[in-house]
Amino acid sequence: MAPDLIAPSILSANFAKLGEDVDNVLAAGADIVHFDVMDNHYVPNLTIGPLICEALRKHGVTAPIDVHLMVKPVDRIIPDFAAAGATYITFHPEASEHIDRTLQLIHAEGCKAGLVFNPATPLSYLDYVLDKVDMILLMSVNPGFGGQSFIPAALDKLRQVRKLIDDSGLAIRLEVDGGVKADNIAEIKAAGADTFVSGSGIFGKPRDGDPHRYDTIIRQMREALAAVSG
Ligand code: DX5
Ligand code: ZN
Repeated sequence: MAPDLIAPSILSANFAKLGEDVDNVLAAGADIVHFDVMDNHYVPNLTIGPLICEALRKHGVTAPIDVHLMVKPVDRIIPDFAAAGATYITFHPEASEHIDRTLQLIHAEGCKAGLVFNPATPLSYLDYVLDKVDMILLMSVNPGFGGQSFIPAALDKLRQVRKLIDDSGLAIRLEVDGGVKADNIAEIKAAGADTFVSGSGIFGKPRDGDPHRYDTIIRQMREALAAVSG
């Protein structure tokens, strides 16, 4: 399997000191920056856009930026995120009228493409485009907010997608997003995930008295992942 990637969701970072917070979590050993884009339309919340992505690049962030689009429509904003330095761009199939075209657009803009599945979204959206995705993101909460509890049914769905990917022989990342913490990350890996988004699980810990907070939590996650074979 591909190496495990830990992807802190900056939704739970300190937006007033975002560059510093991202630097710190990457210095602590995180692999990629998960960037949640919400539009108060597809999901009932409003967050950040391409300007902030570009600002992180200008600040000096070189790690991959994993842009999770929770917006509708999707296509208009994709070139802006590509120009702003996105590495991955993932979107929800329900939010695009033409899924194949959107995947092509992301690739044409020089980014890696992924589809995101809400807890109740069927995997059949993958039937004719599996060879066009670089990442499959399974939501283990309903999108829109950080700090929700992991929905256990996501584990079975992860196992299904892991089998689908392995049977295809394609190099597709399997990412999970929502309620991922140090104490459940091992069972999530065992179910087949290789890319782990965690917002409140990393940024949400009390800061007081622990200047190396991100080192500790990232190390705990790495240790939990290392204990799972495969
Ligand atoms: C939810 C977002 C997540 C969110 C996860 O819609 O897609 O990335 O930040 O937050 P936690 O890890 O707190 O569940
Ligand atoms: Zn997300």
